Formats: sequence, C-alpha cells, structure tokens
Amino acid sequence: MHDANDAPDVLVLSEHPLFRRFFYVACFSRDVGAAPVARRILGTDLVIWRAEPDGAVSVALDRCAHRDAPLSRGWIKDCHLVCPYHGWEWDRQGHTQRIPQFPEARHPSKSGLTMVRSDERYGMVWVCLDDDPLVGIPPIPEWGAPGWRTVPEYEFTFECTAMHLLENNFDPGHVAFVHRNTFGNPDRPELTDTEVARTSYGLETSGQVPVESRPGEVGATVRTTVSKLYAPFFGHIAITYPDGLRHVMIKAITPVDDERCNRAQTVLRTDTEEDRPAADILAFDVEVENEDRQLLELLPTPFPLAVHLNAHAQADRNSLAIRRLWSDVVTGRWTPSW
Ligand code: FES
Ligand SMILES: [Fe+2]
Repeated sequence: MHDANDAPDVLVLSEHPLFRRFFYVACFSRDVGAAPVARRILGTDLVIWRAEPDGAVSVALDRCAHRDAPLSRGWIKDCHLVCPYHGWEWDRQGHTQRIPQFPEARHPSKSGLTMVRSDERYGMVWVCLDDDPLVGIPPIPEWGAPGWRTVPEYEFTFECTAMHLLENNFDPGHVAFVHRNTFGNPDRPELTDTEVARTSYGLETSGQVPVESRPGEVGATVRTTVSKLYAPFFGHIAITYPDGLRHVMIKAITPVDDERCNRAQTVLRTDTEEDRPAADILAFDVEVENEDRQLLELLPTPFPLAVHLNAHAQADRNSLAIRRLWSDVVTGRWTPSW
C-alpha cells in the first residue's frame, strides 16, 4: 500500500492517464503508404493513413462508429478512408463523406471518426492520445545538421514493458554479458562511474563503456557516451569513439500496452556511407537488439518502481535515477519541459 502522494511500488502504465499526454512514435513515415496501417499505443488501437500519397498523415481510433469494424483493414479510395465492413467513407479530418447504401441520406451525427493528435517529424509519425500534451516531440539536433547522415532502422516489438527496455538502454552494466557474442566481453566488465543529472526534460548521464567492436568492425575500443532521457521513454544516446567518430542512437520507445513496447530506432553518424555502409550498421544493431530482447522477455511484469524491490549496486546509478524520475512523474512531483 502507499498513500496518495507516494509513488506505487510497481508501475502499470494503464493506471496512470498521465502517460497518454506524451507524444510517442507510432511508426516510421515510410510505412504509411497506399494502405492504412494499424498500431496500438497504451492499449489504444489506432488507424494511420494518408488521404493522398504525398499528403499528411491522419490518425484516428481504429474502430468504426457504425459496427466497430477495424478501419485499418479498410483502404483508400478517392482520398477517403473506406471502412471494410459497409464501405462508409471519411476525409482526412475524419468527417463522414459517404454512406454508400443511401448516398443522399443525412449522415448520422456520430458517424465521424475520433481523430487523434499526430505529427510527422524526423521520418516518424508521432501521436499523442490526449488533447492536452504535457510536452511536444523531443528534439534531435543532429537531424539534417551539416556533417551528419541518417540511418533509419526498424521498428522492433519487445514483449516487455517500455520501462524494462528504457532501463536496459541506459544500463552500462549489461553490455559485457548480454552482448557477449557481439560487442561485449564478460572478461572486461569493469566500468567507471557515470555522472547522472536531472534536467528539465528528464535525465542526462555520461560515462564510458569498453566494447569489443563497433558496427562492421572488429577491435576493442571504448564508447564515451552522453545519454539523454526525455521523459518518459525517449532516448538520445550520443557516442564518441576515440578516433572522433560520432554515433547517435535515437531510441523512440512506445508503450504498446502494459506488457509490450515498440522501439523505432534511428542512427545518425558523422561518417559517410563509403566509410561504413548503412547495411553494416543495421546488421549489427539487429543482432544487438535480439540479444536484449531475448533477455528482456524473460523478466517478470509489472515493472518494479520502488527501489526496495530490487538490489542495486554501484553500476546502477542510471537505473536508480530513472526509477526516481518515473516516480516523480506519476506522483506529479515533477513535470518535464523542453
Ligand atoms: S462497420 Fe464500418 S461501415 Fe459498418
Ligand atoms: Fe543492450
């Protein structure tokens, strides 16, 4: 038990409507083409479509007001989204345009779609389920900046909570072990302390992690990282290697429901395609993600928020700061801004 002002022992996202007030990545922009697509965020099913091939995206609840059919199983015709059950049609604002059985009849007042706030930025479709977002879309300053190139990766689904994945992405201690077959080495697990600071947007943590390789290369090196967590689940992880190469991992983690999450990852680098082909970076990251996934999917839910529920050692400073941050978010003691 806990009193009203205290954080719960475990974090179950559906118990906190506040999480609906953040923008999350629904999918990559490139995945919304000629047909509507389905995604789920915080247990809410959504349909995402483009009324015109190069037009803006629209997002609505994935349920027809007529007989509850999933609109994501429909199609686009004459710039309208068409329901697959009885063929009702809506424009990109969700206004009913046609009920084909009696086209001249008046449209019932509840026939329109329930639209959801959305935007496209950084090659991704962002969605906020609430009409009153707490903060906007997190910044990615390297995007389109001179000297930087972009390597969009994949959407990965993890059968674990968004909290477990985010914590993992900010956890230097697991690299030597979970990634022992790629870039980690269990014989070199020692770390130096990380610096962790609360910021206006979340947390910033920096430190060094010894690694055995980097994408497409072999040979031990060290990652000097500055990792930013934009509350609640967006990671901007900036690595600098000893030769000056910079490698930014954008980890946009989206809670699918209380037990699953998606991550859309994008890499930004200061080298060129000739220096290191995108295919090498993708192959490396897919292997690494699968290593994390296999471990994370073994962990129990719900996520243990209270510090007393686990043992914590010196390598867990990030993790402790993250748990305190989420505790402050759910209790309303702290609100991010950027
Ligand atoms: S259920 Fe959509 S038109 Fe009937
Ligand atoms: Fe990992």
